[in-house]
Amino acid sequence: MHPSKAARRAAVFALLAATLAGSAMAQDKKWKSLMSTDEPDKLFRHYCAVCHGPDGDGQTQARLALDPPPRNFTNAKAREELSRDHMLQTLEKGTYTKDGKRTAMISWKEHLSPEQMETLVDYIIVRFMGGKPADNFHDHGDPRHKHHDHSKARQVDYPYGLKPDAVRGKAVYAANCQSCHGAQGDGKGTDPRAAQLKPRNFNAQDFRDYATGFTLFSTVTYGKGHMPAWEKSMNNQDIANVSEYVLRTYVTRKPLEGN
Ligand code: HEC
Ligand code: HEC
Repeated sequence: MHPSKAARRAAVFALLAATLAGSAMAQDKKWKSLMSTDEPDKLFRHYCAVCHGPDGDGQTQARLALDPPPRNFTNAKAREELSRDHMLQTLEKGTYTKDGKRTAMISWKEHLSPEQMETLVDYIIVRFMGGKPADNFHDHGDPRHKHHDHSKARQVDYPYGLKPDAVRGKAVYAANCQSCHGAQGDGKGTDPRAAQLKPRNFNAQDFRDYATGFTLFSTVTYGKGHMPAWEKSMNNQDIANVSEYVLRTYVTRKPLEGN
């Protein structure tokens, strides 16, 4: 690991430990382990990584033998070309060359449930495409369309079939997030580290443009930069609840109760 990266890691862990020591959070490991067969990273590693690579860049041994080569999900071309719907279709039907021959990308219908396929597609969107569901890019990146309707992106739901409760999420936010992100979500919390770490301002347009339940869930679970990971200290339901609270309060601006 690059030394500065290692130092950054260490800083995050120290921060995380301090954060955890300071807050009492519910534990619910049993519930989480029941859902583990749907865990997207496990599915991806098991079924897809051999060709697409663990980092989704398609740089695998298999690449040398395959024509067409496996997709790299991490470049701008993929973001432009691969909408969520298109990827779901690909998983269901496989792909064909121009002259109608099957490629190495087979149909996964026999191997994966519809829910697992959706989970995998959302995982690809979030982990490899920068959390920007490609539905936003069906105009092939024409800058004039940059600020068009993003409501489609909001349809990216929570993993594991979670039904979030934003009212409960509000309490989770107050207990665990507000100290850094602030009561107004502007990143100006009272935690003395906040000024230095620059927590995300949830009112910023670029955040609002791409945040979805799924991207929020993923960030809160795995962390990002100096944002601590919560997967060890919070159960999936609380992570979904707080994600939905942030989404409704700052992004979709919907009431906390109801759908
Ligand atoms: C045996 C190798 C292999 C495996 C395993 C594999 N893929 Fe692929 N995948 C490919 C190849 C090759 C392409 C490029 C196909 C093309 O260009 O038509 C591709 C393309 C894709 C695309 C883009 C489709 C398009 O229109 O370009 C998606 C999305 C995708 N794969 C998802 C997955 C997922 C999810 C899994 C795991 C369930 C998976 N792949 C497993 C080889 C593989
Ligand atoms: C110790 C301070 C701290 C705490 C506590 C904290 N965050 Fe963060 N958060 C950050 C920082 C710093 C960033 C910016 C990380 C980056 O972009 O590198 C961030 C970024 C984020 C982002 C944006 C990620 C993105 O893709 O841009 C979200 C969403 C978020 N935090 C949600 C939460 C939620 C929900 C909680 C409570 C469960 C929480 N944070 C608790 C410091 C914190």
